[in-house]
Amino acid sequence: MPDTILVTGGAGFIGSHTCKALRRAGYRPVSFDNLSTGHADAVRFGPLVQGDVRDPRAVEAALRAHDARAVIHFAASAYVGESMADPAKYYDNNVGGMIGLVQGCRAAGVSRIVFSSSCATYGTPDRLPIRETTPQRPINPYGRTKLIGEEILRDLAVEGMRHVALRYFNAAGADPEGELGERHDPETHLLPLALRAASGQDGPLAIFGTDYPTPDGTCIRDYIHVADLARAHVLALGRLMAGGESLAVNLGTGRGQSVREIVAAIERITGRAVPVRLEARRPGDPAELVADPALAAAELGFRTRISDIASIVRHAAPRFGLEPARVEAA
Ligand code: UFG
Repeated sequence: MPDTILVTGGAGFIGSHTCKALRRAGYRPVSFDNLSTGHADAVRFGPLVQGDVRDPRAVEAALRAHDARAVIHFAASAYVGESMADPAKYYDNNVGGMIGLVQGCRAAGVSRIVFSSSCATYGTPDRLPIRETTPQRPINPYGRTKLIGEEILRDLAVEGMRHVALRYFNAAGADPEGELGERHDPETHLLPLALRAASGQDGPLAIFGTDYPTPDGTCIRDYIHVADLARAHVLALGRLMAGGESLAVNLGTGRGQSVREIVAAIERITGRAVPVRLEARRPGDPAELVADPALAAAELGFRTRISDIASIVRHAAPRFGLEPARVEAA
């Protein structure tokens, strides 16, 4: 019998790709999602339980009904801008959600949690690349709720709870086999918006800020392919299933790409122009965020495989009606 894993937020972008990776690795993923932002048709690799993580009884019931051995916790609100406008929603959904989850886990006797944390917990770092020892000083409510989530899990060690907190950098791309993709509403992320602009579905892409202290003046981020991220969750879970200690690690590539470099890559790979409009900086955007990926390599054996920008664009483009013009080397 495969081990069953409860995947909260399993109908979302990273959650659905992780369910596919879990299934491939021999686990049975059960998605637990209230479908507030997730999509039921993205749940393809195991059953869907419709429920809310803020409800400990619903979490406990799902864990018991499926005899789950561990939890991977994605369910959360994830827009930095919205968190500044409506912080209460973020504390309710993300902190309230973590509290509901751990209460449900405790009641059902489940003591292993893999948690989706974020590079947003670091805020604006003093030094690059960002290591796990870099001070966590979030600059928006979203980042604070993710940091509180990590702290709750650290405190619960006293009752035998073990966890891996995965601090994602910029998740991007789509399932290489084309089964799943990124569908946020509203969409705010650079890659899908730039692909939409290239396809003509939208007007020009707004480039937020061209006066940053970076080589081309635009922000630099560390983009990691969602299928690489999904595989990191399987490794983190494996560590906990084997009795390993709690851990917090960055998930990134160690390489940064500017907004203009992303636009150029999309143009090169799809053969289509990305019309752009230069705009002022977006509030709360740090100039540069790049991970030091060494700890994830040492502790989880995790290395990205397909997080080069060409693969990310090639895999995401068909969902926007764009065919990669030619296969580019990484
Ligand atoms: N950008 C544009 N135009 C757009 C959208 C984005 O120029 O229309 C720029 C942003 O200013 C930023 C870069 O593209 O410099 C990437 O922006 P995204 O919105 O795609 O991603 P963020 O880096 O803002 O956000 C990501 C995650 C969050 C996480 C955050 C940490 O999506 O969950 O990193 O800073 F909190």
